[in-house]
Amino acid sequence: MVAIVAYAFIFLLTLLFSYIFIKKNTGIRSEEPHDHEKSVNLPPGSLGWPYIGETLQLYSQDPNTFFSARQKRYGKIFKTHILGCPCVMLASPEAAKFVLVTQAHLFKPTYPKSKERLIGPTALFFHQGDYHIRLRKLVQGSLSLDAIRNLVPHIDATAASVTSESWGTGKVINTFHEMKKFSFEVGILAIFGHLESRYKEELKKNYMVVDKGYNSFPINIPGTPYKKALLARKRLRQILGDIIHERKEKRLPEKDLLGCLMSSIKQGGQVLSDDQIADNIIGVFFAAQDTTASVMTWIIKYLHHDPKLLEHVKAEQNAIRISNEQGNQPLSWAQTRNMPITYKVVLESLRMASIISFVFREATVDVEYKGYLIPKGWKVMPLFRNIHHNPEFFADPQKFDLSRFEVAPKPNTFMPFGSGVHACPGNELAKLELLIMIHNLVTKFRWEIEGSQSGIEYSPFPVPANGLPVKFWRLE
Ligand code: HEM
Repeated sequence: MVAIVAYAFIFLLTLLFSYIFIKKNTGIRSEEPHDHEKSVNLPPGSLGWPYIGETLQLYSQDPNTFFSARQKRYGKIFKTHILGCPCVMLASPEAAKFVLVTQAHLFKPTYPKSKERLIGPTALFFHQGDYHIRLRKLVQGSLSLDAIRNLVPHIDATAASVTSESWGTGKVINTFHEMKKFSFEVGILAIFGHLESRYKEELKKNYMVVDKGYNSFPINIPGTPYKKALLARKRLRQILGDIIHERKEKRLPEKDLLGCLMSSIKQGGQVLSDDQIADNIIGVFFAAQDTTASVMTWIIKYLHHDPKLLEHVKAEQNAIRISNEQGNQPLSWAQTRNMPITYKVVLESLRMASIISFVFREATVDVEYKGYLIPKGWKVMPLFRNIHHNPEFFADPQKFDLSRFEVAPKPNTFMPFGSGVHACPGNELAKLELLIMIHNLVTKFRWEIEGSQSGIEYSPFPVPANGLPVKFWRLE
């Protein structure tokens, strides 16, 4: 009898703790609609097992299959439960617009705390409202068309230098790694303009450790990649402090990102602290490096798979090279604005690869959308990849087809750079880098992909398996 009572007591305690755990971790009072919303239902879908939800299903298969299978079963709005969070997935352009643009104030960006610590809590990604608007103006200013046009010859020289290092001899190259070198160097250009090489090397060395830890299991124990990343982040902060100090001494107004962040007071804002400046610089490194490198890796693969298309791109780029005295003159801004075929290759690659498959938001209040309840505290994820691969908006979506960009895509159906208040301020720089790298590649090299040509790995962005090993040969 005593044993039965004890078991019943333990059972009740477990139930109580489970309830408190769920409540604490989800911020949801109940999965049932509140009284005033009795007529509003949660979206269709499954919340899976208690606690683990559908996390195992997500991680045991290609994430794209996970999302598209549920879209097929439940439609463009469905619920699931992953990584301890109940989520609403949205695969319609209207719903993406609702969350990211028209009702963006009801949804806040949300990232795991472990990632926030590595980037820095005052980076603009994590904020909403006045602070976000103020920072965004500064970042956008440094990445505007007017600002980046001056970078063209420098980006061209960087592309030439990265590809001349170990390419061209038929040696196998890890394309993604090489492209990361390139996008890091371009990030340095956009953030600091010219930077002394001793600073550059120190930043690179420490940033690589942070980058590794960012994608590792966040366990704060000496020796783990996450702990090493936290220490490297501390060193990054010190190096950035030295660079900021030197800039202050020079008192020269610069138009790069650091200059814009440091001159915020002149633009009617309060002065930003050195910590705020450092968090935002590290944030831009994060936003700029793997994204652009991953897209460039896909472009090399897509061009290799379509020799006819590659010939068209080559013809366009060789004409430019000839007019630049066989490449003895650097590319000009005007030339980068007049590459119609190559530009469509960039757009179609952004759609096909959809490297940012979705973004995370969290409902800050109970929200009703199309008769469904999105409860406060639930994660909301607009699924860009599903929209980019929906035949309703892009016929025969698995086909690499430039002609689809002869007319502008329907509103909110093409969002490789997101949409609304947090849309990518670096999108023009990213496209510029890609165009310049393609110019350098197709006019100077031919290439062969090594080994198996299928398979994708997530780093966390999708990249062809093993970083796409490729042999490059220099053209005569
Ligand atoms: C092909 C390359 C790139 C892709 C596909 C990409 C995509 C995106 C997307 C989808 C977002 C929105 C995230 C959200 O809504 O939560 C974003 C935000 C952002 N991106 Fe990019 N990005 C790329 C390159 C860059 C570059 C080169 C830079 C800077 C040099 C940059 C800086 C940023 C920043 C600072 C944000 C945060 C904006 C905010 O929260 O207001 N990105 N990016």
